[in-house]
Amino acid sequence: MKSIDALMHEHRVIERGLGVLEAVAERFERGENVPEEKVMVLLDFFRVFADLCHHGKEEGLLFPELEAKGIPKEGGPIEVMLYEHDEGRNLQRQMREAVSDLSGKANRQKFIAAARDYIALLRQHIWKEDNVLFKMAEQVLTEADDKRLAEHFERHEREHIGEGVHERYHYLIHELETEFVAGAKHRGEHHSEVVAKCAGEKVLDVRTIPPRERHPLIFQTFEALNPGESFILVNDHDPKPLYYEFHHERQGQFTWEYLEQGPEVWRVRIGKLG
Ligand SMILES: [Fe+2]
Ligand SMILES: [Fe+2]
Repeated sequence: MKSIDALMHEHRVIERGLGVLEAVAERFERGENVPEEKVMVLLDFFRVFADLCHHGKEEGLLFPELEAKGIPKEGGPIEVMLYEHDEGRNLQRQMREAVSDLSGKANRQKFIAAARDYIALLRQHIWKEDNVLFKMAEQVLTEADDKRLAEHFERHEREHIGEGVHERYHYLIHELETEFVAGAKHRGEHHSEVVAKCAGEKVLDVRTIPPRERHPLIFQTFEALNPGESFILVNDHDPKPLYYEFHHERQGQFTWEYLEQGPEVWRVRIGKLG
């Protein structure tokens, strides 16, 4: 279901943010320094992405829809979820207060304690939504409800968060992971691919595919796009011949944007025009 999948996808991004927060808390516990502005950026991610964007969609759109479908607000999972969202905001406030002066030991301790509670709270909260509430939602929502909700989610982002902000936070978490979480930088994913995947854009890496199968596969991927959608092609040489093939066969129907041009890897965003 499109609307529920979108929320679950955001859960995965929030979990990555929690991983970064855990690494930051561990550094403080070891007595190491973390630049204050990095911590502020991370807290900003939780405030905007987790709260305004994600919890905003749940509280303002999904939960009312579920209530209308007969899932009671009081005495059930929705009440628990709302309470936990508030708890999370409390803990965020405590972390923000502590960050204002991290030179003192008391404030560091306060930050570590609030961070630990926040991580534990959100991890179990996300688990309950993924495995209980969202399962209930998938049973009571019709296809039409799902389509309407997904549209409202998009509008919520445009009106409350702003165009492109969501994607910027995906990128930011990737950068923070690279800096703070051990092993993250070895994942081998390029920024543009991480952002693309998070935004639901397909990445087609043809480097391990036999050359004669590449072009048919690329055209198949293109045909499967809806107008306005795109995918990122990853190749081990400049796909110029492919460009000419597109130009010849799909003139005026496609966009071609180089994201990286060698010397080892070429990345091109290929889009379908409406
Ligand atoms: Fe939630
Ligand atoms: Fe959630």
